[in-house]
Amino acid sequence: MTQFCFSVQRSVDMVFSLISFFILISVSPSNGYDPLDPHGNITIKWDLLQSNPDTSDVRVSIFNFQLYRHIERPGWQLGWEWQGDEAIMSMLGAEATEQGNCSRFKGGENLPHCCEKKPMIIDLLPEASFNMKTSNCCKGGVLSSMVQDPSNYAAIFVMKIGAVNSSDQFKMPGNFSFGVSGYTCGQPVRVPPSRYSSDSGRRWTQAVGTWNITCMYSQFMASSSPKCCVSLSAFYNTTIVPCPKCSCSCHASKCVMFGETPPVLQEMRDSNQQIPTLIRCSSHMCPIRIHWHIKQSYKQYWRVKVTLNNRNILKNYSQWNLEAVHPNFKNLTQVFSFNYEPLNPYGHINDSGMFWGIRYYNDMLLQEGENGYVQTEMLMRKGENFPNFRQGWGFPTRVLFNGDECVMPLPDQYPTLPNTGGNGLIISLSLLVLSLLVLTIVCF
Ligand SMILES: *[C@@H]1O[C@H](CO)[C@@H](O)[C@H](O)[C@H]1NC(C)=O
Ligand SMILES: *[C@@H]1O[C@H](CO)[C@@H](O)[C@H](O)[C@H]1NC(C)=O
Ligand SMILES: *[C@@H]1O[C@H](CO)[C@@H](O)[C@H](O)[C@H]1NC(C)=O
Ligand SMILES: *[C@@H]1O[C@H](CO)[C@@H](O)[C@H](O)[C@H]1NC(C)=O
Ligand SMILES: *[C@@H]1O[C@H](CO)[C@@H](O)[C@H](O)[C@H]1NC(C)=O
Ligand SMILES: *[C@@H]1O[C@H](CO)[C@@H](O)[C@H](O)[C@H]1NC(C)=O
Ligand SMILES: *[C@@H]1O[C@H](CO)[C@@H](O)[C@H](O)[C@H]1NC(C)=O
Ligand SMILES: *[C@@H]1O[C@H](CO)[C@@H](O)[C@H](O)[C@H]1NC(C)=O
Ligand SMILES: *[C@@H]1O[C@H](CO)[C@@H](O)[C@H](O)[C@H]1NC(C)=O
Repeated sequence: MTQFCFSVQRSVDMVFSLISFFILISVSPSNGYDPLDPHGNITIKWDLLQSNPDTSDVRVSIFNFQLYRHIERPGWQLGWEWQGDEAIMSMLGAEATEQGNCSRFKGGENLPHCCEKKPMIIDLLPEASFNMKTSNCCKGGVLSSMVQDPSNYAAIFVMKIGAVNSSDQFKMPGNFSFGVSGYTCGQPVRVPPSRYSSDSGRRWTQAVGTWNITCMYSQFMASSSPKCCVSLSAFYNTTIVPCPKCSCSCHASKCVMFGETPPVLQEMRDSNQQIPTLIRCSSHMCPIRIHWHIKQSYKQYWRVKVTLNNRNILKNYSQWNLEAVHPNFKNLTQVFSFNYEPLNPYGHINDSGMFWGIRYYNDMLLQEGENGYVQTEMLMRKGENFPNFRQGWGFPTRVLFNGDECVMPLPDQYPTLPNTGGNGLIISLSLLVLSLLVLTIVCF
C-alpha cells in the first residue's frame, strides 16, 4: 500500500504541476512573469563612488540575471532622465549617442561628453581603442545569459558627472530605459552601498551611495506575434503534425517564395543598411520552426530527435537557446551535440531544461540556405510506470526559443498510437483526475 500510495502521490504531483503550469501560462502575458525563470531580470547598479565639490564619479554596472534570455546585437541602450542640469563630463567603457547642446558650459577647453537631459548610452565595440575601455566593457551591447556564458553577463562603464551650478548636490536620475524591445525598468531603489576590495581583499572600500534599477522582460510587450512554432512526428505513426497554420502570421507580404531570390538583397549588402526581416514563405510564417520527433523506443530507453530550422533569409542566431518542458526530463540520460542544463524553478519538479549550441560547432544557427538548422538527439530512461507514448505523452508540453514561447499544435492533433482513439482523451483525462482525487483521499 505504501509503495502504491507513493506512486499515486507522484502522479498527483505531476497533475498539479501541469495544472499550475496552465495557470501560470494564462497569467504570464499580462505581467511578464516567466514560470521557467521566475526571478529573471536585468539589474542596473548605479554606484556613486565619490562626490567632489564640482563633479561626481559614477560607476554603472548592468547585470543580466536571466537564465536563458540574452541581449543580442544591436545590444542594450541605457537611457535616463536627469533631475537637474547635470551633464556627463567624461565616460569610459561606453558612450552617449548624442553630445547635445553644451553651450551652457562656457569657457572650459574640453566640452562635456554629453549634455542631453535624457542621455542615451550605448556600449563600445570590442575594437574600441584601449584608452576608452574599462574591464568588462565593449562587447557591442551583447550580454549573455547566466546559464549559457556566466563570464559575459555583465557590462560596466564609468563616468564623471558635472553641472553648471556646481553648488547642487548629486540627485539620482530617474525614468530609466533599456532600449531592447520587451523590457521595462522600474524606478531606482536605494540599496546598501557596494563594497570593493583592494589589497588582495585585506581592505574594503565602499560607494557613497548605491541604487538598483530592475528591468523586466515581457514577450507580450516585445511583440504581439510569436516567433516560433513546433511540429511533431513519431516512429509509430507516419503523420507529421505541422506547425498550426498562421502560427506567427498569415500575411505573405514579407516572405520569399522557395527558389526566389529577394531583389533587395544585393542592394542591402552593397549599401550597408539595416537588414530587414525576410523569411521563407510557409503556412505558419514563423522565422523559427522546431521539430520534435520521437525516433525510437528501446527496452529501457527512448530516443528523441529535435531539429531547429531557421527560416530567416538574412539572419543568423548567435548563442541561440531552446527551453522545453517534458515530464520525463528528470530521466534524461544523454544529450548529443547540444549543451543541456536542467531548469528547476520549483525545486523538486525537474521537468524543464535548456539546450544550446556547442561553441564553434553549432552555437550559430545560420540563415536559410546556409545550413539553416541545428539538431540533437537525446536518450531518456523509461521507468516502471512508463506510459508507453499514450496520448502524445512523448511530446513536450511547452517549447521556447531564445526565451520566447513557441506555438504548439493542439493536443488532439498529436500523432496517436495505432488502435487508440483520440476521442476518448478528454473523458479519460477527467476520469484520471477523478480517480487520483479518490485515491488521494484514501491515501492521506
Ligand atoms: C533580480 O535577479 C536577482 C538574481 O537572480 C535576484 O536576486 C533579485 O531578487 C531579482 N530582483 C527582482 C526585483 O526580482
Ligand atoms: C543651446 O542652449 C542654450 C542655453 O543653454 C540656448 O540659448 C540655445 O538656443 C540652445 N541651442 C540650440 C541649438 O538649441
Ligand atoms: C544654482 O543653484 C542655486 C541654489 O540651488 C540657485 O539659487 C541658482 O539659481 C542656480 N543657478 C543656476 C544658474 O541655475
Ligand atoms: C519621469 O517622467 C515623468 C513623466 O514623463 C516625469 O513627471 C518625472 O518627473 C520624471 N522623473 C524623473 C526622476 O525624471
Ligand atoms: C542590487 O544589485 C546588486 C548587483 O546587481 C545586487 O548584488 C544586490 O543584491 C541588489 N540589491 C538589492 C537590495 O536588490
Ligand atoms: C550568416 O552567416 C553566414 C556564414 O558565416 C554568412 O555567410 C552570412 O553572411 C551571415 N548572414 C548575415 C545576415 O550576417
Ligand atoms: C534534476 O535536478 C537536479 C537538481 O535540481 C539536477 O542536479 C539533476 O541533474 C536534474 N536531473 C536531470 C536529469 O535533469
Ligand atoms: C524515471 O526513472 C525513475 C527511476 O529509474 C522511475 O521510477 C520513473 O518512473 C521514471 N519516470 C518516468 C516518467 O518514466
Ligand atoms: C496517426 O496520427 C494521426 C493524427 O493524430 C491519426 O489521425 C492517425 O489515425 C494515426 N495513424 C495511425 C496509423 O494510428
